[in-house]
Amino acid sequence: MKSTFIIFRFDPDVDPKPHYAEYTIEVEPTDKILDCLNKIRSEHDSTLAFRASCAHGICGSDAMVINGRIALACQKLIRDFKTGNNFVIEPLPLFRVLKDLIVDLDPFFEMHRRVRPFLINQEEVPEKERQQSPDQQKVIDPALRCILCASCTAACPISRVNPEYVGPAALLRAFRYVYDDRDTDTVARLAELNTEDGAWGCKTMWWCTEVCPKGIPVTRCIGQIKRAIKEHGL
Ligand code: SF4
Ligand code: FES
Repeated sequence: MKSTFIIFRFDPDVDPKPHYAEYTIEVEPTDKILDCLNKIRSEHDSTLAFRASCAHGICGSDAMVINGRIALACQKLIRDFKTGNNFVIEPLPLFRVLKDLIVDLDPFFEMHRRVRPFLINQEEVPEKERQQSPDQQKVIDPALRCILCASCTAACPISRVNPEYVGPAALLRAFRYVYDDRDTDTVARLAELNTEDGAWGCKTMWWCTEVCPKGIPVTRCIGQIKRAIKEHGL
């Protein structure tokens, strides 16, 4: 069958303003949206720019807006959409467009760095590795599934009005270390998160959780950070 893709196009170096280009291609119901973008680029317009790598929901490169909803292009099939003949494809909101569907994720990773996304342990280095029980690992398990696709932060209404808010993805990473029993910097981490640009910036809108392609309960994890802040009397 044939499907029409109406795709956001913008090259800031040459275009005075963004526009939409239309491509009609032959598709199968089982084609991924990413397959269709690849087909458009290889058969119709080699100038179309988008990011993708693994094609299996692992690398987090191809988050975009498909028919008004944020999703990974490699995780959505033609048959997933009721209106299988028409698709509108746009870049992630919130971030500056570099070209077409590619956005500048530097600010996203800058927020990620702010929460010190690495294990901190000041205790003596053990002879072997620092061990963690399966039960303790389960506590942080949801956050380990994050592929840093930026969908949650792009969807977050607070990130849109407060550019200093670290955003849901960074808070999820902070949760991962606050609740990791091998990390010894918990109190300092919680003190850093105890601000309106940190955990309290989250107003529990749930949009992050709704769009997360890995099914991570992002809002719940942020709520657990807030609880830990209170439990530590900060
Ligand atoms: S929490 Fe989900 S939506 Fe947010 S960056 Fe990680 S995988 Fe993507
Ligand atoms: S291409 Fe890697 S997540 Fe979609």
